[in-house]
Amino acid sequence: MTMAEIDYSKRSFNYYPTNAIVYTKCIDGRWSKPVVSNDFNFSLHCFAGVFHYAPSCFEGLKAYRGADGLVRMFRPDENARRMESSAQYLDMPAPNLEMFLDLCTLCIQANWDFIPSFESGASLYLRPVLIGINPQLGIHSSKDVMFAVMASGVGTYSGAKSLVPGTAVLSRNYDRAATYGSGGYKLGANYAQSLHAYNLAHKMGYRELLFLDSATHSHIEEFGSSNFFGIKHGCYITPNSPSVLPSITNKSLRKIAEELGLKVERRTIFIDELETFEEVNSCGTAVVITPICRIDDKVTLESGTITREYKYPEICGPISEKLYKRLVGIQRGTEEDTYGWCMFVNAPK
Ligand SMILES: Cc1ncc(COP(=O)(O)O)c(C=O)c1O
Repeated sequence: MTMAEIDYSKRSFNYYPTNAIVYTKCIDGRWSKPVVSNDFNFSLHCFAGVFHYAPSCFEGLKAYRGADGLVRMFRPDENARRMESSAQYLDMPAPNLEMFLDLCTLCIQANWDFIPSFESGASLYLRPVLIGINPQLGIHSSKDVMFAVMASGVGTYSGAKSLVPGTAVLSRNYDRAATYGSGGYKLGANYAQSLHAYNLAHKMGYRELLFLDSATHSHIEEFGSSNFFGIKHGCYITPNSPSVLPSITNKSLRKIAEELGLKVERRTIFIDELETFEEVNSCGTAVVITPICRIDDKVTLESGTITREYKYPEICGPISEKLYKRLVGIQRGTEEDTYGWCMFVNAPK
């Protein structure tokens, strides 16, 4: 299918075929030259660590075709640094900043025709993955790794139009990350941990699942796919916890919020405070900003289960919309990138 034939309005956040992937391996401390390949299958040893003990971390970032025709990546240096910290947590080799940016660039160039048009509002999602590949049986970190970058041309996260609110439920029976665990790193294992709870929430008709701190179940951590922020009294409020993934979108929104004259608070948000927010959103590369119009809390009492409902506007709130417009404007080149967040990618030669 050519770019002209793709109807991105029918796409959600999913895997859609592209042209090529890019990968390199680090064996005995030496990185190989990057390979651009049209073969989307890897051949790995069946004792590779990744199949057993999950030495695996990944990233997610987007490339956008701007109104000016130029192609930009949004803050890829932040993704490189976060992957480095995830790899450090797993005690395995990581690509350095230059390699990370090089492979992302190569991947975009190899899939140039799959970068959606500006008008479509869609983007090319990049998925850098780092996995342990040396055969092993004992429980120890991987010394050899593969670093691959793949891409998919995606629409909005839910498949609905942007800024369409969704519902969420508090995760009372399942935790995403332990207090002193790996929640602050982007490990595949963290997502495996949340899949069952996520499936249950989806079956109940919720778009999102909102995890609580695992020690006390008294305050908000983050959604399964994204960070949490609430707005009230001219203030942008988001949890501050080492077990929450440090979202690059949230970090950027905090800057934009200050620019828009909002006060920014990173602090503990107790469940009861949900009642007081004027606007609530999830934020992240995939969801961008997605308004939440209701959060349900199903509390089990001796007498049975009761549902407390926290309700927010059925449309995107005015402050969240301003934040969204500025963020997306920078990403798509319709607003001045005063922070130097975007990295331009040249067309393939
Ligand atoms: C659990 C979780 N939290 C937060 C985020 C948002 O992070 P970022 O803004 O860097 O994409 C993501 C991924 O998008 C995520 O999977």
